[in-house]
Formats: sequence, structure tokens, C-alpha cells
Amino acid sequence: MKTTTDFFNMKKNGDKITMVTAYDAPSAKLAEDVGIDTILVGDSLGMVVLGYDSTVPVTIEDMIHHTKAVKRGAQNTFIVTDMPFLTYHASLEETFSHAKRLIQDGNASAVKMEGGGAVLDKAEALVSAGVPVVAHLGLTPQSVGVLGGYRVQGKSNSEADKLMKEAKRAEVAGVCMLVLECVPEELAKVISTSISIPVIGIGAGRETDGQVLVFHDVIGYTQGHVPKFVKKYSDVSSIVYDSLHAFHHEVKDGVFPEESHVFKQPEQLNNKMYG
Ligand code: KIV
Ligand code: NA
Repeated sequence: MKTTTDFFNMKKNGDKITMVTAYDAPSAKLAEDVGIDTILVGDSLGMVVLGYDSTVPVTIEDMIHHTKAVKRGAQNTFIVTDMPFLTYHASLEETFSHAKRLIQDGNASAVKMEGGGAVLDKAEALVSAGVPVVAHLGLTPQSVGVLGGYRVQGKSNSEADKLMKEAKRAEVAGVCMLVLECVPEELAKVISTSISIPVIGIGAGRETDGQVLVFHDVIGYTQGHVPKFVKKYSDVSSIVYDSLHAFHHEVKDGVFPEESHVFKQPEQLNNKMYG
């Protein structure tokens, strides 16, 4: 299993870090088989697999449940789990107990927290207590209500300046990685070269130390709007649709099951049974 030391070395050597989300065992296993460097159990699960229209309704129980499944599928991969909406803000005590549950009950390797400011104070306290923390800056979807939608962050000089300061603060806090979401490529490059921690970009251009995408976006299994930064490598939705469509019609038409799918009674029993 790769560790935080490996990720720092990869950054130093210019080896790109790959991260993909996963929410269940079979997808996590495929990611591990490919050699993906680290898996994120993102709270995007709320939108991607639970059918919510934001990440806000996702609970700590949801995150534990799905992290356990991912861990069963990918025993040998560094797993980062999102701390969900409002589980790391009220108090340090609450933050600690939620992080503890994700690590001890969920088997996460690290927890991810969105935002700068006071969140990074909490992150620093967790790191001091021995919990690997991933920071998340730029577009922070749990704050969609405050941000007023999903938009590129850090376009103006003052916003860019603020993001740069928060990234440096994250480094001081001792986080092991920084996810940078939806910022201009130029800014992502400056941030990535200005701090020693690996920066994993999503919608942050080509110059970050690694890239993360949502599993279902990569394979084309997402409903509705897909952001500009996504590259869809296959169209799994249409494969699933065609398969279910064929099953449905073959049953209706008496084509499935076929001879090869059927169990037979042994000959000698067959005649004696049923009178
Ligand atoms: O929840 C998630 O999938 C994320 C990534 C988009 C970084 O936080
Ligand atoms: Na997330």
C-alpha cells in the first residue's frame, strides 16, 4: 500500500498521482487492480449513487458504510474518506469523534476536509493527534449554498491571493495532500509549485501533482450534467441500458432462460417424483 511518504516522493520526482472516487467494493477492486495510487470515498456519493442533488444530505453513517465496502474491495490502497457536511465545524471534540469513526469503524487511511480558515485549525489538531488529513480548497461543494452554485474559484486577484494563503496554511497544518477543485490552471500551477504537499487537481488544469475524478464520470455512468473538466473514457450507461433492455425483452419473448441456464433433475428421480 502506498503511504503519504510515497505521495510526497512522487511529487518530488514529478510522478503524477492518480486518485479516483469509489463507493463500493467492486469498483474499488477495479481501481486497485489498475494500480490507481489512492481512492477517495467522496461525499459525491450523495449525488452519484444516493440520488441527492448536492453533498449536503450525506451523513457520517453513509460515509462509514461506503468506506467499509471500499476497503473490502481494495485492501491494499490508501483510502481517503470525506468528512461530510457539518461534521467538523462545531467543536474540536465533535471533529475528533467523527474522524475517529471514519478511521476506526470505516477503515479509512485519511480523512478529507473542505475549506480554509477554522477548518485548517481543526485539520492541524487532527494531524497532531496522528490522523492523516487531506485538505480541499477552491470549489468546496459542501458550501454550495454559500458560494451560490458550482463555479470556478480564484479567478480574481483577491480570490487567488486568498487561495494561495489557504494552501500555505494547509501546508503549515501538516496535511498530507491538497485537493484543489475548479481553479484556473495558472493559479493551480503556482500553488502546486509553492508548497511541498502533493496537490491533486480536479478541474484545476494540467500542472498539479496529480488528478482526481469521480468514478462514474470516468466511465460514463452519471445521470445529468457532466462538468467541463471531466473526461468520459467510456459510456457505461449505454452498455447497462442495452443489457437491461435485452434481458427485459428476452424474458417477455421467452428467449431467456435458454437450455444452458437450466438445472435438470437426475433422470432416475425425475420419473418417480410428482406421482
Ligand atoms: O466527493 C468527491 O468526489 C470529491 C472530489 C470531487 C474531489 O470531493
Ligand atoms: Na467531496
